[in-house]
Amino acid sequence: MVAIAALHPTDTSLEVTWSDGVVSRYPWLWLRDHAHDDDTLHPVTQQRQLFTAAVPKGMRGLSYEVVDDTLEVTWDVLEPMSRLPIAFLAKYRYPRVARATVDVPVTLWNGASLTTPTVAYDAVMSTDAGVAQWLGRTLQYGFCIVTGTPATASATEELLRRVGYIRETIFGGFWEFEADLAKADTAYTTLELRGHTDGTYAHDAPGFQLLHCIELDATGGESTMVDAFAIARRIEAEAPELFEVLCSVAVPGQYIGDGAHLMSARPVFRHDHTGRLVQVSFNNYDRAPFLLDEDDMLAFYDAIRLFDEIANEPSMQWRHVLQPGEAMLFDNWRVLHGRAAYHGLRHMCGGYLNREDVESRLRQLL
Ligand code: OGA
Ligand code: ZN
Repeated sequence: MVAIAALHPTDTSLEVTWSDGVVSRYPWLWLRDHAHDDDTLHPVTQQRQLFTAAVPKGMRGLSYEVVDDTLEVTWDVLEPMSRLPIAFLAKYRYPRVARATVDVPVTLWNGASLTTPTVAYDAVMSTDAGVAQWLGRTLQYGFCIVTGTPATASATEELLRRVGYIRETIFGGFWEFEADLAKADTAYTTLELRGHTDGTYAHDAPGFQLLHCIELDATGGESTMVDAFAIARRIEAEAPELFEVLCSVAVPGQYIGDGAHLMSARPVFRHDHTGRLVQVSFNNYDRAPFLLDEDDMLAFYDAIRLFDEIANEPSMQWRHVLQPGEAMLFDNWRVLHGRAAYHGLRHMCGGYLNREDVESRLRQLL
């Protein structure tokens, strides 16, 4: 591990020179705020006990020294000595904007480049390494199929609970559906479902969805997946002005029925505060009416036409008739899912997971 080579105080900060030459500046207040004693950081809850705003403004370190693997700082005001592990300081030695995502490599794909990501049911159910592989692949590729899953609703629910608790929505928690219009949604028919994301009517659209076909006696019903991050990359290169439209125009989504009228709005491509694309939202079925100024409205239609055309290029799509036993988990913020029309019996089950719950599970496994 990198060590501290020298300490140099300034009016506002403690400057640390690391053994590899990197120089970091930690404001005095930051050092006080991040002290590791029990009165500052609760040892069980890991929650800050310090009332940061009450710390005297302009406080400075009086003395500072490295004792074993800890930095000790005393203060020029009436504040207790602060101790900070060197490993903790090292973790934050490069200043950067805070980010809360799990860093898993993302591999963009199209229909030709992708080998179907899979993991075995037994591995997921019996080992944490199996869960890590399942979630890691789901984040890397946007989906991952658990093969050999018993074709029952209860086994599928148990599989989903290996990740975390199931999200409650208008559809319930763990759900089953067939073409019976039990809910006011095209999923509950035999009609084609073009590529879409779920929950464009929710401020916090489900991060992940599991779908498992547990009974199949049908013709058609092929499932489709498209990497919408790859669509974004293409539109950015091929039509930058339409990319800008998709990044900026808030598109309203709504769900009307089953005693609810849900609405939300966000751009098709949502970037976070670091400029990284983090969420794709596209559901032409659920788009609510809105009218912009003429030029903006027409540009919007051009933009979603291009988006939908690329999403429906056969070369962009992964297509497969999901068989009983193939439980598919997918990233609803990244890929578009769909299915072809069908005739016959197709009994599906599944559920949603919140994004932060999947990230939490994976963060603890990595
Ligand atoms: C859905 C959905 C696809 C399918 O339920 O959100 O898109 O395969 N279903 O039935
Ligand atoms: Zn859907």
